[in-house]
Amino acid sequence: MLAITVVPLLFFLHAYAATLVDRQFPHLIVPVKQDEPDRAFNTQYSGEIAVKAGAHQVYTEISFDVPTNAAQTCNLAFTIAPANGPWTLSGDPAAGPLVFNISSLPNASINKDKDTWNSRPKSQEWVASVEVAYNGNVKLTGGSVVCAKGSAQQFVMYPGSARDFGLTWFELTQPLHGVTYEMYVP
Ligand SMILES: *[C@@H]1O[C@H](CO)[C@@H](O)[C@H](O)[C@H]1NC(C)=O
Ligand SMILES: *[C@@H]1O[C@H](CO)[C@@H](O)[C@H](O)[C@H]1NC(C)=O
Repeated sequence: MLAITVVPLLFFLHAYAATLVDRQFPHLIVPVKQDEPDRAFNTQYSGEIAVKAGAHQVYTEISFDVPTNAAQTCNLAFTIAPANGPWTLSGDPAAGPLVFNISSLPNASINKDKDTWNSRPKSQEWVASVEVAYNGNVKLTGGSVVCAKGSAQQFVMYPGSARDFGLTWFELTQPLHGVTYEMYVP
């Protein structure tokens, strides 16, 4: 009897004992815009994801320089600090939270000087879906990635459906705001 109750408790404690060893901010934030399909925007301080009438899309490519450390699990996170984080969200609040997705890009595929809507690298695998409510609540599904220690790890953020919205955010450490790469030891 005792064993049956103790084992799940240990798993529970284990799951909550994960320690954050590092949090990285994107080293590159490169938008590509369907409306200016051959223009390269270079790296920016803000991220942007948008779609209107199923077109006029804006994607944002991001690259993290993943350090070498003791981390054993890594995941992407997205945080909005509604009161004092600089962000904008357009669209119809009555339609519920907007959704954007994140997919992986091949290693070293982002070229900040050259990437355009037409020439952007093809994404690989779905990594996360992120719901953002108009009050700033965020719910991320998925997000776990292989820890590419000592290497760049790259992703693209894009609308999760054809529903109209526009989201912009400025990356900030204090308060924590935007997309981050989190590294944990179990
Ligand atoms: C990515 O590429 C760099 C240099 O080209 C290489 O050193 C690194 O191991 C690669 N990382 C992965 C995860 O493939
Ligand atoms: C975004 O991800 C969800 C799964 O969470 C999927 O159903 C949806 O089709 C994806 N959207 C796009 C545009 O790939």
